[in-house]
Amino acid sequence: MRVWLSIVCSVWAAFAAPAVAQDYGDTPYVQTPQVVVDKMLEMAKISSKDYLIDLGSGDGRMIITAARRYGARGFGVDLNKSLVTLANRNAARMGVANRAVFYERDLHETDITQADVLTIYLLPEVNLMVRPRILALKPGTRLVSHDYGFGEWQPDVEIVMDAPGKPVGRDQKSKVMYWVVPTQVAGKWVWQGPAGLYELQIDQVFQKITGTLSAGGKRVSLDKAALTGNNISFEAVLDRGRHEFTGKVINNAIDGDMRVTGAAGTTQAWNATRTELRDARFTDLTPGITAR
Ligand SMILES: C[S@@+](CC[C@H](N)C(=O)[O-])C[C@H]1O[C@@H](n2cnc3c(N)ncnc32)[C@H](O)[C@@H]1O
Repeated sequence: MRVWLSIVCSVWAAFAAPAVAQDYGDTPYVQTPQVVVDKMLEMAKISSKDYLIDLGSGDGRMIITAARRYGARGFGVDLNKSLVTLANRNAARMGVANRAVFYERDLHETDITQADVLTIYLLPEVNLMVRPRILALKPGTRLVSHDYGFGEWQPDVEIVMDAPGKPVGRDQKSKVMYWVVPTQVAGKWVWQGPAGLYELQIDQVFQKITGTLSAGGKRVSLDKAALTGNNISFEAVLDRGRHEFTGKVINNAIDGDMRVTGAAGTTQAWNATRTELRDARFTDLTPGITAR
């Protein structure tokens, strides 16, 4: 892996934009092709309400494109002073200097808590260093990464696309991955409903959830269980048929709707309280990588 990384780094360095004479920090400068920038922003479903942070912002293309195309706001950080100057100059030239700002700053020292969306094109080991801080962001924060993932935290969406003009790699392809920071939902939840006491047990590995639902003397596994930020959904076959649950998790409460499917379909509210908190496999599981 290390040999491969150093080969990648030297190839990247060789192809870096001529204006950049030196690499800084822990990932060398390589531009994301504009077509990939466009796809990343599309996958992150950017709107004018979003605040973006680009870690290792290069010539500023990610935040500048988000500002120009979607009216979003944000900032980028980079250790390379000349790239920061170039990015701010590009933002001014494109008329978005009031919405896209760039700072000479170490990404590991940058406060990212303001982000609605994080954009990243960094080496995989750097992603793993940042991962604990990303998982601690507010649930629902979106993350989009070019080419490299975040270890065992599997993306919600992953595509491979043509990347003409990409300065690295033989096949002119890019991988784009998208995640939503999940809330911590693991534990035991209870509420009263039509079948009496309902008891929901949830296990969690990042955004992947599994579990069981007990009600009316019956205990069944959850089907189609999903967690996106604060939003939970699952299905369970109980006495009156298939039940579809959707809800919003706010700390130790879930408020949502339960729909019983079939001819006599009904919808009613469910309001659960967490009575036992369980560890989610959420924090860093990768040996040798520590949170900064
Ligand atoms: C692969 S380039 C990506 C540039 C840009 N985001 C893009 O996609 O076109 C990585 C960038 O991260 C910057 N970088 C590396 N380590 C950094 C650190 N610790 N703090 C801030 N920037 C860093 C490099 O200077 C480089 O510009």
